[in-house]
Amino acid sequence: MSEPQRTDDHDAPEPGAPVPETIEQHVTDALTAIGSAADLEGLKGARLAHAGERSPLALANRAIGGLAPQDKAAAGKLVGQARGRVNQALSARQTELEAERDERILVDEARDLTLAPGRRSLGRRHVLTVTAERMADVMVGLGWEIADGPGVEAEWFNFDALNFDKDHPARQMQDTFFVDPPEAGLVLRTHTSPVQARALLERGVPLYVACPGKTYRTDELDATHTPVFHQMEGIAIDEGLTMAHLRGTLDRLAEGMFGPGIVSRLRPNYFPFTEPSAEMDFRCFVCRGEPTASPCRTCGGTGWIEWGGCGMVNHNVLRACGVDPERYQGFAFGMGVERTAMFRHGISDMREMIEGDVRFNAQFGMEI
Ligand code: PHE
Repeated sequence: MSEPQRTDDHDAPEPGAPVPETIEQHVTDALTAIGSAADLEGLKGARLAHAGERSPLALANRAIGGLAPQDKAAAGKLVGQARGRVNQALSARQTELEAERDERILVDEARDLTLAPGRRSLGRRHVLTVTAERMADVMVGLGWEIADGPGVEAEWFNFDALNFDKDHPARQMQDTFFVDPPEAGLVLRTHTSPVQARALLERGVPLYVACPGKTYRTDELDATHTPVFHQMEGIAIDEGLTMAHLRGTLDRLAEGMFGPGIVSRLRPNYFPFTEPSAEMDFRCFVCRGEPTASPCRTCGGTGWIEWGGCGMVNHNVLRACGVDPERYQGFAFGMGVERTAMFRHGISDMREMIEGDVRFNAQFGMEI
């Protein structure tokens, strides 16, 4: 909407000299607004309102041009000084507010370099490592030593020293990985039992040695087989050791791994390097052998869990290692580490243990 046109000049008041009180009021208004501007944004508004082109003082300044010549000097001085005060107040407040802002930034954006860094998730040891170490720990607790042996093993240690005939069916039974060239007589050890012979030869008797380690057979990978697996071998040779010692030792090992109150049984079996030989089973700790509505998933309804082979060390093995079987006897056992881990933790598929999925591993972590 445009202003109505002035038609009669006589009605319009002559623009008079600015009134000092009015100017002073403008200055007061401006100084109040400037003083109460809380931040730079607020000050910007106050500047626009009180020092901008359309502010009362700017308008008064512009009006000076239309005054009577004798009034101009006084009006110019009055308005000029007023604008000067306002501008001064503006720049003083500007400086103040900028300083406040800088200080606030220093506080808000401060970084505490002494703070602890964000948490990274911890790595976990593999469940097989933890299980094998725990098995070894139980044996150390019984006063046994821990031994080690090579994964690439001489056929002699893996078979011959352990009383396997050249054409013993067990040599095929074991489904062995032979290392090229065949005449080198090297295999990937099919069990940890070669450590029996090595320990006897290296350490002599009396001997109480356990050896957790990797073993290899040409099995296809499935839920219950893997071509690379682990056993813990144990061999004790001393005067007067009997099968009762074997059983007591295995019961302690089972309790160390599965908790107190384990019931075990020895089932006759055959191994060339032990005589008599047995398979050790323990009572299923889920169904405890009691009849259940549907077959127990842990033991398959048999009430027993097969754990590993064992027996009294065959005299031929002792002789092959230079030990007099008339004086020294002893026992040996070989327990599967995978089976132990599976039963302890309710793992139903072996493949999970070798797939390397960190979500699987993270469930086991550490044991004290
Ligand atoms: N080495 C046997 C196996 O791999 C287990 C075993 C060890 C049996 C020691 C008797 C004595 O099945």
